[in-house]
Amino acid sequence: MIHLGVDERTDRESGEMVRKMARTSSWIAGLSLLLGVAANWALAQEVEGVPDGYPPGPLGKVVRLGEAVVFDTSEHPLSKPYVGNKLNCTSCHLDGGTDPQAGSFLGTASAYPAWSPRENRAITLEDRVLNCFMRSENGTRPPNGSEVSVAITTYITWLSTGSKIQMNSEKSLGPRHVQPLKLDWKQASAERGKLLYKTHCLDCHGQNGEGTADGPPVWGQDSYNDGAGLSRIDKLGSWLKVAMPLGDPILTDQESADIAAYVNGHDRPHFKLEEHLPASDRLGEYNGKRDVP
Ligand code: HEC
Ligand code: HEC
Repeated sequence: MIHLGVDERTDRESGEMVRKMARTSSWIAGLSLLLGVAANWALAQEVEGVPDGYPPGPLGKVVRLGEAVVFDTSEHPLSKPYVGNKLNCTSCHLDGGTDPQAGSFLGTASAYPAWSPRENRAITLEDRVLNCFMRSENGTRPPNGSEVSVAITTYITWLSTGSKIQMNSEKSLGPRHVQPLKLDWKQASAERGKLLYKTHCLDCHGQNGEGTADGPPVWGQDSYNDGAGLSRIDKLGSWLKVAMPLGDPILTDQESADIAAYVNGHDRPHFKLEEHLPASDRLGEYNGKRDVP
């Protein structure tokens, strides 16, 4: 599995390129126009690219700590106790969330606090981060205000430097969230997906989705659980379209949907909220919300 440490990531040329390109929101808008894709999502809100430098002093250190955790979540001593699989945040939020499309964190903080229909309350960016621990990381929710939680939230907030605050009153998603593909998901064929997986994915993710040195597990006990966003075929298909094969996302909409149906047709850990919460005295506000589905 590829672990992109903070130092290593400059090695990944494509990542660096994307980071540079992401520096201006106009680039995204420009490319969208060039490709003839609807650019409204990119233009709807002013979002800046990756800031030029870290904040000075101890705050900069917290940002860097958060960045290190995002790249090495399943192994970093601060986050490891709360992770229940082999995924890092950057496994899905590509390039540590600096990829402009595949789980981008650019501008994300500007949408929070946001309304969460699932939880039927307003949630902060920190809450959102902690939810990904329970579902995508199949782990335990770190306590609000804990070092790991604050570091990650600080890193993500730094990636919104200069972006205009515009709280999302509909969903807990930022302005650069993965664009949902518009297609009939019922037409997705796991059978076609199986063949496509062999061609495009198997080398890196393994015959049984177990992962290899070149890619993390995509199903089974070490992958995301069935409460995670990506366990929904529409979410996975839309993400695949902009994210995989890594570095060369060339799938058509239909291929993305077919592969998503195949990947999510396999077993993965079953999400039961109770099992992902810490002792109730460490829950804070979340204490009263044990009945969230
Ligand atoms: C298995 C894939 C996966 C992993 C691993 C993962 N996430 Fe996510 N995360 C998602 C998906 C999918 C969404 C929803 C994104 C969308 O719909 O655009 C999401 C959403 C988010 C959001 C809200 C983004 C927004 O636009 O408002 C934050 C913040 C977030 N994740 C943080 C994290 C952090 C921090 C970690 C590591 C502790 C993590 N995630 C691990 C898949 C993942
Ligand atoms: C060249 C190797 C490579 C290929 C080919 C590839 N992936 Fe990935 N994939 C990765 C890596 C590496 C990551 C983690 C990203 C990171 O850490 O930067 C990843 C992440 C993922 C994730 C999110 C994390 C997880 O494990 O659940 C999914 C889902 C995924 N890939 C599915 C696919 C599918 C489906 C295909 C085929 C269309 C595919 N990938 C092709 C290397 C690859």
